[in-house]
Amino acid sequence: MDIITKAPRGTADKLPSEIYKWHTVQSAAASIAETYGCREIKTPTFEHTELFQRGVGDTTDVVQKEMYTFNDKKGRSITLRPEGTAGVVRAALENGLLNEALPLKLYYFTNCFRYEAPQSGRLREFNQFGVEVFGADSPIADAELICMVNDIFEFLQLKGIKLEINSIGCPKCRAKYYDALKEYYRQYEEQLCDTCKERLERNPMRLLDCKSEICSSFAKNAPSILDYLCEDCADHFATVKSTLDSMNISYTVNPRIVRGLDYYTNTVFEFVADNCGTQGTVCGGGRYNGLVEEIGGKSVSGLGFAMGIERLLMVMDAENCPYDPPKECDLYIAGTDPNSSAYAAGLVRQLRKFGFRAESDVVGRSLKAQMKYADKINARFSMVIGENEINSKTAQLKNMKTGEKLNVSIGDNFAEKINSILMDIE
Ligand code: HAM
Repeated sequence: MDIITKAPRGTADKLPSEIYKWHTVQSAAASIAETYGCREIKTPTFEHTELFQRGVGDTTDVVQKEMYTFNDKKGRSITLRPEGTAGVVRAALENGLLNEALPLKLYYFTNCFRYEAPQSGRLREFNQFGVEVFGADSPIADAELICMVNDIFEFLQLKGIKLEINSIGCPKCRAKYYDALKEYYRQYEEQLCDTCKERLERNPMRLLDCKSEICSSFAKNAPSILDYLCEDCADHFATVKSTLDSMNISYTVNPRIVRGLDYYTNTVFEFVADNCGTQGTVCGGGRYNGLVEEIGGKSVSGLGFAMGIERLLMVMDAENCPYDPPKECDLYIAGTDPNSSAYAAGLVRQLRKFGFRAESDVVGRSLKAQMKYADKINARFSMVIGENEINSKTAQLKNMKTGEKLNVSIGDNFAEKINSILMDIE
């Protein structure tokens, strides 16, 4: 097939027939985030490459292998965002948002780009809904953030998603843990995969996350970060857990969760499901207390999450979750001849101004073909306008499902009349 008629590998069109599913998720996520005091932010699709190298971390797969990076016409290195957090931190700093009342709570819908091997549930362009909170130091904020994800999943009537949490401590306790990990893995050094051999010195925690069979078998008996947390980090984690308990949110502590991005400190969490293709994680997040400073701001704590919308929809489809019904045509007004079609166009305009989804003929079809079209687009009601209707200022409103007909005046206040009739029927 000619390449101009085929979307690039790892991308997917979101077709009109499926878009109601996206609208369901987007409106639930946005309205629930707003009940927590979040406000929407939009940041650019591309940023300077250095932002992600510094922000996401240059030992991560995302930065080392997966970024869509290119030079623009002035030779500047530009990268399509692989995730949303770094851009939001940059925008908050650049626009002085961190000088406003804290905590600052932001949410976003964003497309992300990662050059990964495409599989079911793993795309090269995918969409995230994310939340970032700044200046909330208390562990109650961590629990509240997790609770927000929980609320969204509950609202969407998802049942099979499980929450796993962990603490990866602060740089102080992590240094001791790194030493213990290095010591443990040294006995297997020769057998590790090439990527893990490289990471052993720079970022040994990432070895716990390696998907290769041999490395994951070594991970099973590796030391646990939870045995190395300093007192402050242990207290923080204990309060996160007790707050989740008091919110009635069930979770499992999984000391193997390390997350794939470098910025995390303390709490990390993942919501996992069995039925989102080959990938288990629907939503991931955690605290990142050093990131704002790393990107050039003052020391302000941060925490957030992002959920993959494609993966979420896979789970919703598999669980048969309900969606808000697709928005279809309320009323189709057919014309028996060109003059009547022009009149119908005027009526349709009035209905649209009133907020109805209304259509009339713009093709030049016969009356029969117009009614066939009204059927195809699932119009709830139809009306035929001809010379008689125009002269008498009355037409028949037909309920397309029941076949019932009702005389309606098409004179003054036409849209108001239709509105009151449809309200009565509903
Ligand atoms: P992440 O775990 O890399 O975290 O991605 C979050 C979610 O995006 C994943 O759980 C998954 O649902 C979805 N996702 C990731 N990669 C793909 C892919 N190739 N195809 C389809 N879906 C994918 C982050 O991005 C962090 N920025 C989350 C965060 C926000 N942490 C703190 N604040």
